[in-house]
Amino acid sequence: MTTRTATVADLDGIMALEHASFPTDAWSPAMMREELASPHGWYVVVEEAGHLVGYAGLRAVRGARDADIQTITISEAARGRGRGRALLRALLEEAARREVHEVFLEVRADNPVAQKLYLSEGFAEVGRRPRYYQPDDVDAIVMQLDLRGWVARRTEAAGIPASGDPTRTPATPTTSGKGWC
Ligand SMILES: CC(C)(COP(=O)(O)OP(=O)(O)OC[C@H]1O[C@@H](n2cnc3c(N)ncnc32)[C@H](O)[C@@H]1OP(=O)(O)O)[C@@H](O)C(=O)NCCC(=O)NCCS
Repeated sequence: MTTRTATVADLDGIMALEHASFPTDAWSPAMMREELASPHGWYVVVEEAGHLVGYAGLRAVRGARDADIQTITISEAARGRGRGRALLRALLEEAARREVHEVFLEVRADNPVAQKLYLSEGFAEVGRRPRYYQPDDVDAIVMQLDLRGWVARRTEAAGIPASGDPTRTPATPTTSGKGWC
């Protein structure tokens, strides 16, 4: 298993997984290309035997205090073996490197597997967007993570001293839109 930063060259593989995992509300190739090329985005892919089996994306505008988990997907055959959590943690580690304070995401109310993953990393529900996912007519649950608390827990669990200064206030705080996970 290899995890690496995604590039626009991964677009076709990512779109194949996107359609398989989100049959009714997949992003368009143009949207995904824009995400992959954006300086405010950061995408990772996981490969096995040369095949792409997962991807995940973060949106963290430089200098902003908050960031969004945009998406996270593992191919059906590769689920349940820790890859989703590994990708989520990779995104949170990148957010910490960008000195983000809070991470947000939206998750379908009918997706208990993803909700359980997010809750177990420390995300908490902070709101609902009624009928956000169309055409399925499903609510979005908005979740938030205190990233500095997450970093402190991870550091404590690893038994290593904290690196960097995740408490420093960015020079120009801004607010980005919420993710579409
Ligand atoms: C959500 C998803 C990314 C999780 O990836 P995964 O590799 O299967 O998950 P992991 O093996 O890393 O498991 C992480 C946690 O997710 C939860 N989880 C995973 N599979 C589960 C299942 N079948 N039932 C309930 N909870 C489950 C558990 O909390 C698990 O932690 P644990 O193993 O300590 O109990 C994956 O199921 C997926 O791609 N789903 C389709 C796309 C999607 O819904 N993306 C999320 C959009 S917000």
